[in-house]
Amino acid sequence: MARITTSVLREKKRKGEKITMLTAYDYSTAIVLDEAGIDIALVGDSLGNVILGYENTLAVTMDDMVHHTKAVVRGVKITMVVTDMPFLSYHISIPESVRNAGRLIQEGGAQAVKLEGGQERVDVIKAILDAEIPVMGHIGLTPQSVHQFGGFKVQGRDLETAKRLIEDAKALERAGVFSIVLEGVPAALAKRITEEVTVPTIGIGAGPDCDGQVLVVNDMLGLFQGHVAKFVKKFANLHPLMVEAVKSYSDEVKAGTFPATEHCYSIDEEIIDKLY
Ligand code: KIV
Repeated sequence: MARITTSVLREKKRKGEKITMLTAYDYSTAIVLDEAGIDIALVGDSLGNVILGYENTLAVTMDDMVHHTKAVVRGVKITMVVTDMPFLSYHISIPESVRNAGRLIQEGGAQAVKLEGGQERVDVIKAILDAEIPVMGHIGLTPQSVHQFGGFKVQGRDLETAKRLIEDAKALERAGVFSIVLEGVPAALAKRITEEVTVPTIGIGAGPDCDGQVLVVNDMLGLFQGHVAKFVKKFANLHPLMVEAVKSYSDEVKAGTFPATEHCYSIDEEIIDKLY
């Protein structure tokens, strides 16, 4: 099978085929996504929450994103890798934003970058596109705006903000993004936005009518026992399985039953006898 590219994604929207995206932050998970035929591995700045244990994504740095992108890129053959531009990496100046986007491609090996925001990001998106770097947009409940929103709140529930989100999506499309993530948006509004733009929309907490779906892989695998958002479906419950396996290991080490003979390397007894 050929590598997933922006034109494959465009074609999927045209044919009405759903696009699948999950986050990945490491080599082993990237292999799983690739084997399972996931279209896009997103090296999300959600790694701040699920990998680094921060309360939100604001402390994630460019170096964090480059480091994890390299690991994911080494794990995929077909799946497309898109990497998030972290907070402040595209807010200061256009040259700095282009350089940062370029690092994710040149050092990290990603095929595209994603950044949050609507009409206010058009200039920076155009500059990044001018450097031949494909850009994925992200509007709605954009986690890097958590303090401005006053928490993680569904966006676009009143007429004014709903209209604004439609205008944002259109502005991103005109700027040249190849896809738009819609996060934390009422399902009927996400459907309308999806109909209004020709680029694929990828929803998270945005209902079934987007052109594709994305989830944080740690959430959908049930690696967390804590609270997860309403839109998360746990397709597995790995946390208790992992705790059970680690407890069994601990019990066997303490009882002396691990390692057993099959886990040990042998040596000629004579050599041991000749040792003093
Ligand atoms: O960082 C992330 O994981 C994301 C997805 C939630 C879309 O941006």
